[in-house]
Amino acid sequence: MVQVKVEKAKIDQKQTPLLVIGVFEGEQDIPHSKELDSSVSSSIRETLENKEFRGTFGSSIVVYTLGKGPMKKIMLLGLGKREKFTDESARICAGKATRKARELGIKEFSILQFSNLDEGLVEAMTEGITLALYSFDKYKEVKEPVTKIEEVTILINSDSLKFQSVAEKANLIVEAVNFARDIGNLPPNDCPPAHLASIAVSLAQDYDMKVRVMDRYELENMGMGGIVAVGKGSNNPPKLIVLEYTGASDPQQKPYLLVGKAVTFDTGGISIKPGEKMDEMKFDKCGGCTVLAIIRAVASMKLAVNVVGIVPSVENMPSATSYRPGDIIRMYNGKSVEVLNTDAEGRMILADALAYGIATCSPKAVIDLATLTGAAVIALGSNVAAVVGSNKQLVDRLRKLSDKTGEKMWELPLYDEYHEQIKSTYADIKNIGGRPGGAITAAAFLSNFVNDVPWVHIDIAGTAWMQEGTHEKSYNHRGASGFGVRTLVKLLMEDEKQLPA
Ligand code: BES
Ligand code: ZN
Ligand code: ZN
Repeated sequence: MVQVKVEKAKIDQKQTPLLVIGVFEGEQDIPHSKELDSSVSSSIRETLENKEFRGTFGSSIVVYTLGKGPMKKIMLLGLGKREKFTDESARICAGKATRKARELGIKEFSILQFSNLDEGLVEAMTEGITLALYSFDKYKEVKEPVTKIEEVTILINSDSLKFQSVAEKANLIVEAVNFARDIGNLPPNDCPPAHLASIAVSLAQDYDMKVRVMDRYELENMGMGGIVAVGKGSNNPPKLIVLEYTGASDPQQKPYLLVGKAVTFDTGGISIKPGEKMDEMKFDKCGGCTVLAIIRAVASMKLAVNVVGIVPSVENMPSATSYRPGDIIRMYNGKSVEVLNTDAEGRMILADALAYGIATCSPKAVIDLATLTGAAVIALGSNVAAVVGSNKQLVDRLRKLSDKTGEKMWELPLYDEYHEQIKSTYADIKNIGGRPGGAITAAAFLSNFVNDVPWVHIDIAGTAWMQEGTHEKSYNHRGASGFGVRTLVKLLMEDEKQLPA
């Protein structure tokens, strides 16, 4: 992956094929203009005065220096209105510049800090650059010829040590996001539950972590009726992956528990889905991929926190051995569930994973991520994840972080009334609550398996991959997005700061 470096800006000395300079809309002055060769800065001034380039968000123009100065070309990059500029704008603009540079066939370039220097800016610029360069071409025999950008330098107006370490951490986080994208994008024929488990095992080897993979017979013996029921329709048997990272100075410190839905393909089962866009249900494993990636990021940064990741993985298929509508399933925590739709399988496997995780590692908080409901997409669209939780403080922290990371999240309420919709005639609860408030009744279902531990559920059905309604951004691509990795890693980084290491 491309490496991003940070250096103190010395524009008159910086040898580079391309220098990117951000310009706010309507502003005539560019930073460091005095350090540029006078003919170059006059040429830039004229471009701005003639309104050939106005600095509108995402626009760009290339100015050649014709040997006058250490940089071969300068790209002016529109940052939009100064008062509207955020970390997310910086991420998008850095991504734009990077893609343009690649189109120009450049292997290495420098980019001036866009606005006032702080850690958030350097982090966002680094993320924009590295996320934008992702591509998934594993299955292309004939690869598209693209220039490989090897190095990018962010030039800042202060000493770089502290900011270099911010960029290094951002590099590690993006490597994890790209790891989540890589697994999320795998086709279902190459990524059955056993394959996800083998990825978790290699991760554990690479970073010296504990891992346990439970197979179908163990799951049966342990009473994980939900995972077993959903998994039994497929020839690819279910797995429960448990990955543990211990980084806190006190190994006994209560961990965060992260649970991610990994349905490697969701046909709906006996309640089979319509054929249209069914291929997209290979992305039904993205919650689990996110959890694996978060742990990878945390381990690669050696964060001083404890985290347990649990990924229940199944393939939801129709067959002679499938679970059926009408079945009543005994779950890990003893509750009985009446299955009224086999397509509501995500909650069945998450329920067991949540109850098992809480019982075995007494976490201080639990967060689950899942492509759980089409209803979440109906409610909030394809650019915002739905958040439902039992702990206001944790929800608020996540919401605030998501504003910074650009991984948009919005809270839906979990009032008592929603629980009525999942009461069952024959069992304790049923696995569907009807069309009204479908994203919330799914969360109400899960709440039966988390007792009183602070818990937040993130429904990433709309955001886990680029789909109908997705707003295209310079740093996102067709396929899996890795949504959630950055925000949750930031949450864990905040926690690390609060606790003495
Ligand atoms: N994996 C789907 C949810 C989904 C649908 C995610 C579309 C992304 C896009 C989930 O397993 C599912 O099928 N849920 C059902 C629940 C219903 C039967 C209560 C749904 O949303 O229709
Ligand atoms: Zn389903
Ligand atoms: Zn599903």
